[in-house]
Amino acid sequence: MIEEQISFADQKRKTVETAEFTADGRYKRKVRSFVLRTGRLSDFQRNMMNEYWPIYGLAHQTEPFDFKKIYGNDKPVILEIGFGMGKSLVEMAEQNPDKNYLGIEVHTPGVGACIAYSVEKKVKNLRVICHDATEILRDCIPDGSLAGLQLFFPDPWHKAKHHKRRIVQPHFVQTVCQKLASPGFIHMATDWENYAEQMLDVLQNNPQLRNTSATKDYIPRPETRPLTKFEQRGHRLGHGVWDLYFIKTE
Ligand SMILES: C[S@@+](CC[C@H](N)C(=O)[O-])C[C@H]1O[C@@H](n2cnc3c(N)ncnc32)[C@H](O)[C@@H]1O
Repeated sequence: MIEEQISFADQKRKTVETAEFTADGRYKRKVRSFVLRTGRLSDFQRNMMNEYWPIYGLAHQTEPFDFKKIYGNDKPVILEIGFGMGKSLVEMAEQNPDKNYLGIEVHTPGVGACIAYSVEKKVKNLRVICHDATEILRDCIPDGSLAGLQLFFPDPWHKAKHHKRRIVQPHFVQTVCQKLASPGFIHMATDWENYAEQMLDVLQNNPQLRNTSATKDYIPRPETRPLTKFEQRGHRLGHGVWDLYFIKTE
C-alpha cells in the first residue's frame, strides 16, 4: 500500500540533506564509492519515472522501512546495490515472484531505465531507490531484515590510490551483516581479479560469515544470475569473472 503518491521530481525536492559535519562545523568530505556519471535521462525515462515513481520508487528517509507495508506481503527481501541499467535485476524479480527485490543505484538514467523495464515486464515485487547505498543501509534498512545482498560488478577503482573508494571494505560488510537475517546470503561478482581478492579477504575475515565455495575461494558462476551489462563488457575485454557466495551463520 502506498501512502504518499509523489512523483520522482517531487521526491528529489524532498530529498533529505545528508551532508555531515565535524564537531567544529566543517564539512566532512566523504569517501564515495562512485562518481556521478553524466548521461542524460531521456524524455521517455523521465516520463516513466514521474508516472511510475509512486509505484516503484522509494526515497531516503531517517527511519527504517516497513517492508511488509511497502510490498504488501512477508516475502524475503533481497537487496541489490549498484544495479546499473537494471535489466538483470528486473529479470531476477520476474523469475522469482516468491521474493521481493530492492535495488539501489545513484545513476538516475539507470533508475529510469529500470523503472521503464519493470513496467514493460509488469514486475510487482521490485522497488528502487536513487541514493547512496551506504546511507540507505545506515538509515533505512532494519537490522536482521534482509534475506540477501547482491553486489554485481561494483566499480573496481583500479588504481591502488583509489582502493579506499571500493565499496567492499570491512565496515561495509559489517553493516551488511547487521542488516541480514540468519541465515542470509551475500553474493558478489567482479571481473577484476585484484578486487575479487579483496572481496575474498574482507568476507572471509568476518566471523559471522561462512564461505560456500568448495575450494574455499570462489564459486562457479550460478546459472540463476542473469548476465549484466558490465559482465558483458568484461567478456568483450577478455576479463575473467569471479563469484563469491557467503552465508551469515549467526
Ligand atoms: C560498474 S557499474 C555495474 C552495474 C551493474 N551491476 C552491472 O553489472 O552492469 C557499478 C554501479 O554501481 C553504482 N554505485 C556505485 N556506488 C554506489 C553507491 N554507493 N550507491 C548506489 N549505487 C552505487 C554506480 O552508479 C554504477 O552504476
